[in-house]
Amino acid sequence: MKTIKLDLGKRSYKIVAGHNASDRLGPLLSALKIGSHAMVITNPTIGHLYKNKFTKQLKASGLDVRVEMVPDSETSKSYGACLKLINKLADYDGLGKRLFLIALGGGVIGDLTGFVAAIYKRGIPYVQVPTTLLGQVDSAIGGKVAIDLSYGKNLVGAFYQPRLVLSDISYLNSLSIRQIRSGLSEIIKYGIISDKALFEYIEKNFNRLMSLNIECLQQVITRCSQIKAKVVESDEQEKSGKRAVLNFGHTVGHAIEAACGYSASFTHGEAVALGMISAAEISHKMKLLKKDELIRVTALCEKVTMSAKVKGLTLNKIMKALYHDKKFINGKTRFVLLSKIGKVKIVEDVPESLIKRVVKKQCSL
Ligand SMILES: NC(=O)c1ccc[n+]([C@@H]2O[C@H](COP(=O)([O-])OP(=O)(O)OC[C@H]3O[C@@H](n4cnc5c(N)ncnc54)[C@H](O)[C@@H]3O)[C@@H](O)[C@H]2O)c1
Ligand SMILES: [Zn+2]
Repeated sequence: MKTIKLDLGKRSYKIVAGHNASDRLGPLLSALKIGSHAMVITNPTIGHLYKNKFTKQLKASGLDVRVEMVPDSETSKSYGACLKLINKLADYDGLGKRLFLIALGGGVIGDLTGFVAAIYKRGIPYVQVPTTLLGQVDSAIGGKVAIDLSYGKNLVGAFYQPRLVLSDISYLNSLSIRQIRSGLSEIIKYGIISDKALFEYIEKNFNRLMSLNIECLQQVITRCSQIKAKVVESDEQEKSGKRAVLNFGHTVGHAIEAACGYSASFTHGEAVALGMISAAEISHKMKLLKKDELIRVTALCEKVTMSAKVKGLTLNKIMKALYHDKKFINGKTRFVLLSKIGKVKIVEDVPESLIKRVVKKQCSL
């Protein structure tokens, strides 16, 4: 079991990661003293697998527990789902109750729960218990919470930090291969943006990670949590630009997701892997990144894009989505590029013709 501290003064919290870490949840919550009544938010897929054991553990530590399910889909990050939960919370609330929320699920559940926690009574405590690899290394950490609008993803949100992140590696055993790859994509991203040793570790241990080797997972989840914690500490609300490095691969990645209507053709990680290859290629073409490092980045990212289906995508759709992205300020093409593995830089005004050429090639359009 590893504990990483995310230091934000009064809003500091621990990230606890390890095999069967959820066995420690009761005592950790008691020590935090955040409330007597816990509303667990999850979905039927995860609930079916883990709800009973999870609630038993919470009740054993003296908590009153209620579970609320939302549908298993990105559509749960919506105004409708949010409002339903708020009404359920208001119904559960009452004299002398100190309510808090627990997100038991992937990034969808985490983002939704965090957003509800941020706005109910101007903020109540919440805890992240991420059950996907992507959640454990990325979405559960850092306090970005949001719901989607029909105009785009994450358009209504807040920076609202959890009181604890508890990553139980044993939850990952029930993930699909595609979801594991999707999480690995973000792990590769951390190696590329700030830690060459991590990148090399993934190169060497890719198959062991895919087969959910506990020791390897513990190693990379801990390292990624440390990296994300440091970035968030340095720029909690994305004001200085330091947090923007986490967007490596996401400019083109988000555009691909949007261009295919957030369908199952691409998981987030698959789209980001293609985006990382594109960003590395642009970096090379702009004479920032050497050829041998481009080859290594491409080879590793290609391992996680295997199931993605580019069918139906067009260059026009991707370019249109690119120009709607929050990262494209005033039509300026701001990219996180790579100068070497482990080091990125933000570059403005990447020529549109180069972006088009690279995206066309990477997406085989
Ligand atoms: N807040 C942030 O900083 C941040 C960062 C990255 C992504 N996100 C958001 O996260 C979301 C994507 O998250 P995700 O990739 O975790 O997807 P997800 O939450 O949709 O989960 C993926 C699938 O795996 C299932 N699942 C979850 N845990 C499982 C388990 N242990 N066993 C079996 N099945 C399980 C889910 O039910 C779902 O069908 C997006 O909405 C994205 O915008 C947020
Ligand atoms: Zn991402």
